[in-house]
Amino acid sequence: MQDVTGLSFMRLIAERGEPDLFFTEFFRVHANSKLSPEILSSITENPTKSPVFAQIIGENIDDINRTVSELMCYPIAGVDLNMGCPAPRVYKKNVGGGLLKDPKKINQILHAMRSRIDGNLTVKMRIGFEDDNNFEEILNVILANKVNLLSLHVRTVKGGYNTPPQYDFVEKAVQYLGDECPVLANGSIETARDAILLRERFDSLGVMIGRAAIRNPWIFRQIREIEDGQAPFIPRRADLHTYCLQLYDVLSRPSIEERKMVSRMKKFLNYIGLAIHDDGVFLGEMRRAVTKSELFAIFDRHLSGEVFAERPLDQKPLKLDRKIKPPEQGYCHV
Ligand SMILES: Cc1cc2nc3c(=O)[nH]c(=O)nc-3n(C[C@H](O)[C@H](O)[C@H](O)COP(=O)(O)O)c2cc1C
Repeated sequence: MQDVTGLSFMRLIAERGEPDLFFTEFFRVHANSKLSPEILSSITENPTKSPVFAQIIGENIDDINRTVSELMCYPIAGVDLNMGCPAPRVYKKNVGGGLLKDPKKINQILHAMRSRIDGNLTVKMRIGFEDDNNFEEILNVILANKVNLLSLHVRTVKGGYNTPPQYDFVEKAVQYLGDECPVLANGSIETARDAILLRERFDSLGVMIGRAAIRNPWIFRQIREIEDGQAPFIPRRADLHTYCLQLYDVLSRPSIEERKMVSRMKKFLNYIGLAIHDDGVFLGEMRRAVTKSELFAIFDRHLSGEVFAERPLDQKPLKLDRKIKPPEQGYCHV
């Protein structure tokens, strides 16, 4: 996830039980684009044992060819095409989710990518742009270009992040693509049990988890424990406290001034705060914090001490009332 799941975040996930696969933040592809060193570091310094797929976002075939050739020099598990980003200034350029309006263009892009990639070519997409009219045609394009894995976010681009997830489309994709192209189900998987139920119900190869992994970085460990018939680890607020402090630490750079660091932390805390079921008090206080000491005092108040430290975290995210705004979920600064 852009601005979130970089190398620093991978380090923390690795300590808590990593997923089987990682996808990088997207590499922008345009006439003057260069591979971002920051994103590359999550490939070259991967601190986990799990493979990393490099995600790209773009539409110009020459630029995609150049970028794919550059990426092939790095130890990646494959190259993933982003066809899901819902930010208007992105889809208006016909990249990200905008590509879903044009299956012929998708075919050209995947054809070009396929001819340069010996290993895995993968796709991340939504079920359509504003409806699912192109869904089958795009699945055909995926089959024709021998795509190796599809991650399917079960909303349309216009559906954003919080409309009801349409999981039936996982079943449709699994049936349509068969063994040729396995499917990862994605969209509002909130708990480890959700992940297991969903995979079993629709027979997908697995699941892709986004926001819940920021709130609960133990979720991959929990999934494995449940699958092994064990009781899953239930983190306490004290564990969340340690996670928040470590996060500040791994994100810090001497060149980043304190206010900017606090803002950077808030990108994560907007999701982490949903693990604290207190009517949004933590979220409200955290959003007003300006300095590191203010932020750390808020952690102390809500996550430590006799009252709170041992309190188990609720596995579902807090449902926010209208007074507290949900996290901004626009990403894709292309
Ligand atoms: C902050 C943020 C950044 C994201 N960045 C990317 C990205 O770079 N590439 C991508 O394919 N999807 C990205 N997504 C979408 C997620 O991968 C995922 O499809 C979506 O959030 C739904 O899954 P979830 O409910 O498990 O979060 C991002 C989502 C969020 C909230």
